[in-house]
Amino acid sequence: MNDHSSPAVDYDFLKTLSVLYVEDDPEIRELLSHFLARRVKRLELAENGQEGLEAFRRGHHDIVVTDIKMPVMDGLDMAEHIKSQGRDKDVPIIVITAYSDRDYLIRAIDLGIDRYVTKPIDADLLLDAIYKSAHARFNQLELEHAHQEVLDTLQQTVTILSRAIEMRDPYTDGHQKRVSQLAVAIAQEMGLSEAQVAGIRLGALIHDIGKIHVPTEILSKPGHLSPLEFDIIKTHAEAGYDILKHTSFPWPIDRMILQHHEKLDGSGYPNGLKGDAIIIEARIITVADVIEAMSSHRPYRAALGIEAAEEEISQRRGVLYDEDVVACCLKVLAQHGHRVFEQ
Ligand SMILES: [Fe+2]
Ligand SMILES: [Fe+2]
Repeated sequence: MNDHSSPAVDYDFLKTLSVLYVEDDPEIRELLSHFLARRVKRLELAENGQEGLEAFRRGHHDIVVTDIKMPVMDGLDMAEHIKSQGRDKDVPIIVITAYSDRDYLIRAIDLGIDRYVTKPIDADLLLDAIYKSAHARFNQLELEHAHQEVLDTLQQTVTILSRAIEMRDPYTDGHQKRVSQLAVAIAQEMGLSEAQVAGIRLGALIHDIGKIHVPTEILSKPGHLSPLEFDIIKTHAEAGYDILKHTSFPWPIDRMILQHHEKLDGSGYPNGLKGDAIIIEARIITVADVIEAMSSHRPYRAALGIEAAEEEISQRRGVLYDEDVVACCLKVLAQHGHRVFEQ
């Protein structure tokens, strides 16, 4: 847990930190706060865990330094409360411990305490621990921020692509965006991981990318299509897959696109896949696609309405459409109705 070898303490970095220091012994508190106050940007003091927790909830702190044994609430109970908070739950916590507190250390490790410093306190070692923990957290936040920026840029790029595809197919303007919004809501309702939801958001946004391969005269033809024209439309799933198949996204976007017209009983296209052979992402997009298509206006028919769409997926759940996906989709629609397309 403790590593005193490297790197050297960066005093300028310390000067940017807001530190919460919790200690019940007035003498130690006085001594150490005097030492710390001159080396950090802001130092807040508390006399026990309860006071410390209240101070933590009131204001932003980059790091918490705490004694363990204290009246009212001990340092580990305070740490447990902090670690269970949604916001700032990853703030580094350093505990100050006496050798007689060894049993507490086991609990400290279980709680995910970052570091410990033993009594009698060596102020330089404490400063070193503060620096290392706060700096590691800073680096982690930077990384998360950079990751989010890449994801946002990717999302914007894919949205541009989505809009470009739909320019050739004016009758389905905004279709992919709306399918994406509903598919994301279904995936979240199903409890899929954040990473999977991010993949579905992007995959659904370009699920019809293969339509770039279909002549505009067919895409924008009013009235019903001949069987041959419909066969040409059907090529869009495989054409989309061909566009994406050599990419290395961390999500199976190529297969989401390839499989978005497959049906559970094998009656879909292009490969007549059945059941679990169709990936869950595609099973979700399929249902969102049906709902969006049926509730929107088409040149050859008026909108059938969201109720008719719900009827369709309810009646064929377990046959064409995944049971769980349908159940979650109906829940989402019951909660949000049309508004799910406007988020
Ligand atoms: Fe499609
Ligand atoms: Fe579609």
